[in-house]
Amino acid sequence: MSTAKGMKLTLKVWRQKNAESKGNLETYELEDVSPDSSFLEMLDILNDGLIQKGETPVEFDHDCREGICGSCSLYINGEPHGPGRRITTCQLHMRSFNDGDTIYVEPWRAKAFPVIKDLVVDRSAFDRIQHAGGYISVNTSGNTQDANAIPVEKENADQAFDAATCIGCGACVAACKNASASLFVSAKISQYALLPQGQVEAKDRVQNMVKQAQEEGFGPCSNTGACEIECPKGISLENIARMNREYLAASLAK
Ligand code: SF4
Ligand code: FES
Repeated sequence: MSTAKGMKLTLKVWRQKNAESKGNLETYELEDVSPDSSFLEMLDILNDGLIQKGETPVEFDHDCREGICGSCSLYINGEPHGPGRRITTCQLHMRSFNDGDTIYVEPWRAKAFPVIKDLVVDRSAFDRIQHAGGYISVNTSGNTQDANAIPVEKENADQAFDAATCIGCGACVAACKNASASLFVSAKISQYALLPQGQVEAKDRVQNMVKQAQEEGFGPCSNTGACEIECPKGISLENIARMNREYLAASLAK
């Protein structure tokens, strides 16, 4: 059992009724928050208090609470997923803050991620980018080759796996001054581009996914690297370089 002393916190939380309304920061005071509680548990405590007072709880997205689903997308003190590195908001603990701190909690800010309510944004643009090319074709006519029987170089397998760890959280977009989705798109392209199974649609994939990202309103990449720093899964900028090479090759082939 923890003997840690509870923290006193001032929260400045973005409240917004819906996509059309103008939002604003509301101030809430919390007493006796355990440093061992997670950031989302701290928001649960806030909401319990609001419900007890008959007020509307703060809407925020969450599901797995263990860094897998990518839904807990919060902008905390001006940083996607808060002050930690290589963690999502649900993996952030209150011991990362100090007793007496003021903490700003806002939704992702990007035209392509409109606010639905309070801290919840619509990230379905990422789904549509995936639909545009995030798949492979497999011949299932009866002569299907076992995927495990197709040799893949160790280095390529490792890099494809690393790219596939992207959880689609959108922190890369939130961190980017252009709201570019390049790190996300490049991870989704790389996980196929590095494997033999991904070659059938390779040229169409890169062109269709990049086109979809542009149509969704994500901005261009200007190589600041902010996305890589804030990515909870450590997705490397090398993926953006690979995406650009794939795009050039696809353009020259047409
Ligand atoms: S690249 Fe990183 S920051 Fe961007 S969506 Fe994937 S996991 Fe999140
Ligand atoms: S709630 Fe699933 S990654 Fe945070």
